[in-house]
Amino acid sequence: MTSCFIRPAPFSAFSFARCALALILASGHLGHAAFAAPAPIVLTGSDRRPATSLNGEWASIVDPYFSGLFSFHHEEKKNGFFMNYKAKPGDPFPTEYDFSKAPKLKVPGDWNTQRESLMYYEGPIWYEKDFIFEPKPNTHVFLHVGAANYHSWFWVNGQKVCEHEGGFTAFNCEVTQAIHSGNNFVIAAVDNTRHEDGVPGLETDWWNYGGLTREVSLIEVPESFIDQYDLHLSRNEDSGIEGWLHVVGAQPGEKAEVEIPDLHAKTTADIGADGRAALHFKVQGLDRWTPDSPKLYKVAIRVGSDSIDELMGFRTIETHGTEILLNGKPIFLRGISIHAEAPYRTGRAYSDKDAEILLGWAKELGCNFVRLAHYPHDETMLRAADRLGLLVWSENPVYWALEFDNPKVLAKAEQQLGEEINTSRNHAAIVLWSMANETPNTSPRTQFIETLATRARGLDPTRLITAALLVRAQGKIKIVDDPLGKALDVIGINEYIGWYEGHPDSADTAEWQIAYQKPVIVSEFGAGAKAGLHGGENERWTEEYQANVYRHQLPMLNKISQLSGMSPWCLMDFRSPNRPLVGIQDEFNRKGLISDQGKKKLAFSVLEKAYKDKTIGKAD
Ligand code: GCU
Repeated sequence: MTSCFIRPAPFSAFSFARCALALILASGHLGHAAFAAPAPIVLTGSDRRPATSLNGEWASIVDPYFSGLFSFHHEEKKNGFFMNYKAKPGDPFPTEYDFSKAPKLKVPGDWNTQRESLMYYEGPIWYEKDFIFEPKPNTHVFLHVGAANYHSWFWVNGQKVCEHEGGFTAFNCEVTQAIHSGNNFVIAAVDNTRHEDGVPGLETDWWNYGGLTREVSLIEVPESFIDQYDLHLSRNEDSGIEGWLHVVGAQPGEKAEVEIPDLHAKTTADIGADGRAALHFKVQGLDRWTPDSPKLYKVAIRVGSDSIDELMGFRTIETHGTEILLNGKPIFLRGISIHAEAPYRTGRAYSDKDAEILLGWAKELGCNFVRLAHYPHDETMLRAADRLGLLVWSENPVYWALEFDNPKVLAKAEQQLGEEINTSRNHAAIVLWSMANETPNTSPRTQFIETLATRARGLDPTRLITAALLVRAQGKIKIVDDPLGKALDVIGINEYIGWYEGHPDSADTAEWQIAYQKPVIVSEFGAGAKAGLHGGENERWTEEYQANVYRHQLPMLNKISQLSGMSPWCLMDFRSPNRPLVGIQDEFNRKGLISDQGKKKLAFSVLEKAYKDKTIGKAD
């Protein structure tokens, strides 16, 4: 937030105007035409639609005071950066920006790792891109944004098209009225400033990478188009596929059609007045999706002249007592936790290559499961998990302390949860929606997350709801009785015996008291190690110490009767502002089993052996 209140006199009209406007704008309530715009929408499977990519180099202006948001000459609005105004001789006012001369930033990509001067930058940056587009008659055109961290505003040809808060979910802005045939330009303002009332809040143990961190494109759809759909295998009817789809602008009498050519299966359904069609049909000879055989089917979804060619697997997931059942059979989730940190180049991961490397390492480790922490990951990662056969824990960024008693914050968390589920609901790989990570056991917190869990169940009753809970330690007794556990199908537990608590061998005598007869996933444990640093197994930061922690953890965890899975912290070292230890951390969390430069640490093989020999967890 621009520092309005600390500036002593002389206090010019200019800075007063700027502060007042920035304050109003920050509150998002400026009714000014330049700032009013419809809310963006969610498009399920948007990555399966043909699109005009806007990826590549964008002009950029770093604007710490957000000066570009307002203009002196309201009637002309010429020098708000969103107007992309080109100065002309004789103009009655100075134009103090010019995107055509501005340095470039790559999209997708965080700005922090693209320019040294931006590594620590938190604030607004403007992006501008020129593009040529020929809209077809009777269509809608959407500006699709895979993600923009954290708060973002978009204009096309000077017209505001949308605003979005939340750094890890996709959104689509209608630009049909703003776009025209031929030359166009799009301008985005992206601000990664952290806020107390944000989701996540002020504190995270990951780098606050800012920018247009995922793909940006234009998606054109017919007048009546499918915005959301859900298809899944029924839990109650063998080989029954069910779901629904929703059409915007459905024409009277239009029917929904779903076809799975490889199964010679086809169904049609009427579309109701609310644009919704219920889908249900039986299939023969379906190969269910499993980690060992991640079978994906081409699925054609059509309404009128709109169609989406999906590629998806079909499986069921449920719990039975303390077991997790995949396709009706108990399964032990041999997992690892992963941040969306790009291997080798570091920065926010977004590409197929990033996903192939990260998930490739997880497969090498012997995993059938990954916890994608602490925010919804990119569709490229989820498509790769579908393809490679990795079950996924997907998480809403309700992390550590938030303003749990602030209804506005709850609304933001619900919005992000809705975007996450409605965008990614058709991935066979995703089996768990996680509501939160390590939140304080207070009643406002519990109510807040219970509300999210209810919403998630309402949006998607086919998957399991979880959250990562903290442990209460009384000496060697480890107690898990957080009341939030009542609202969950699966209990996630984060514990750091041997690192933040005790010594590696403290695990040998630990006794667990878990208040829930539900499946338990130990969603975090681990230790820091600098790759290549060697020494005694009780010497912190050495690879031997980290391996020693794993060797003591695994037999301890095997004693937990409800144990149905685990996702140690974590696969690869990742950048974090909380990790300043020079020569060891250098602003990286070093709990990875692999360094950010791909160097495997000793603990990698300790876990790999346990997973491949299946000495951890119940045999499945
Ligand atoms: C926490 C937290 C992680 C963090 C880890 C650590 O449990 O959930 O986000 O990185 O501990 O301290 O390394």
